[in-house]
Amino acid sequence: MTVRFNSRLASIPGYTPGVPKGHSAEDVAGSDLVQLASNESPFPPLPEIVEAIAQAASSMNRYPDPDATELRRMLADRHETDPARIAVANGSCEILLAAADALLEPGAEIVYAWPAFSMYPNLAAMSGAREIRVPLAEGEVHDLEAMLAEITAATQLVLVCNPNNPTGTYLPVAEIRSFVERVPDHVTVILDEAYIEFQQQDDPDDSIDLLADHANLVILRTFSKSHSLAGLRVGYALCSPDFRAAVDAVRQPFSVNALAQAAATEALRHGDRIQRQIESAIIERVRVEAGFAELGLATADTQANFSWISLGEDGAEIEDAVVGRLAEAGIIVRPGRLLGGPGWLRASYGTAEQDDRFLAALAEAIREHG
Ligand SMILES: Cc1ncc(COP(=O)(O)O)c(C=O)c1O
Repeated sequence: MTVRFNSRLASIPGYTPGVPKGHSAEDVAGSDLVQLASNESPFPPLPEIVEAIAQAASSMNRYPDPDATELRRMLADRHETDPARIAVANGSCEILLAAADALLEPGAEIVYAWPAFSMYPNLAAMSGAREIRVPLAEGEVHDLEAMLAEITAATQLVLVCNPNNPTGTYLPVAEIRSFVERVPDHVTVILDEAYIEFQQQDDPDDSIDLLADHANLVILRTFSKSHSLAGLRVGYALCSPDFRAAVDAVRQPFSVNALAQAAATEALRHGDRIQRQIESAIIERVRVEAGFAELGLATADTQANFSWISLGEDGAEIEDAVVGRLAEAGIIVRPGRLLGGPGWLRASYGTAEQDDRFLAALAEAIREHG
């Protein structure tokens, strides 16, 4: 007998990991591979966080707190809100998937910019909703006016990624405010701020003020990038109590494991030092972007912890060769064609030494193939 899977399965896009096939994250850590393909922090978690994880490990015979009470209380304090307005999950991806589960169904519509985060297409594929992808405007930025024009009575969900992955481009909060004000109330707007800490145009918490006036707004944050905790996965939403209840209803109970809860609560006690790591990434951004300019490569105006690098007019033809040449030099970047942008590369910032290796190998690859 042949197993018959449901009809949605075939349309769910698979995730291509940043770590090369046949390697694990541990291989990367113990080797001189330079892993710049997943927008991770190059810094290990702070020693106090590692210690908190080690301590939590001794209680692994118990299930974790299903409500992540302490973590939600600390996040509520940090954002001056109520814990009832904080949903936590196994990475902000889990909240995106929960939103699809709770809001979408066949006949519903979801609107998002493209290229944007590679998970967004999964939401439509898993729910059977119709997706409307709105091309980025000039400068690789969200075209908010065009997105507004796509909203209909059937629209259930609009996703705005700010700063945008893979382009790194950022829209000031004033523009987000004007957009959210014009989105009808029946539409949930998810503002995905996975990289918000790396932008330097606004206070990273300015967008949170919008929640007071817009019950249909959800802001997503993650500990994966700025807090060096990608391996544990903790994401959260600042949202209405109703949205939080919906996420909790559809996600797996205990989805934020005990080590992740211990790590994230400890991380919140060290905001100043984490801020210094974020600043190191921003300094690296300036230096690496200058390196691209020296090589004659145009980039999108990034406000994130990665760059979106154009390989020029014939970029799509040389993309694989350049990525392959970099891989031979032990440098892993993300080819744009996997992210909806053929002819581009996305590369996160590493340590200064790793970035120097990347720039040297890129210069070589461009000389050979450009
Ligand atoms: C825009 C964006 N949102 C959300 C995530 C998910 O992060 P996590 O599920 O690890 O919290 C990512 C990760 O790459 C991302 O780029």
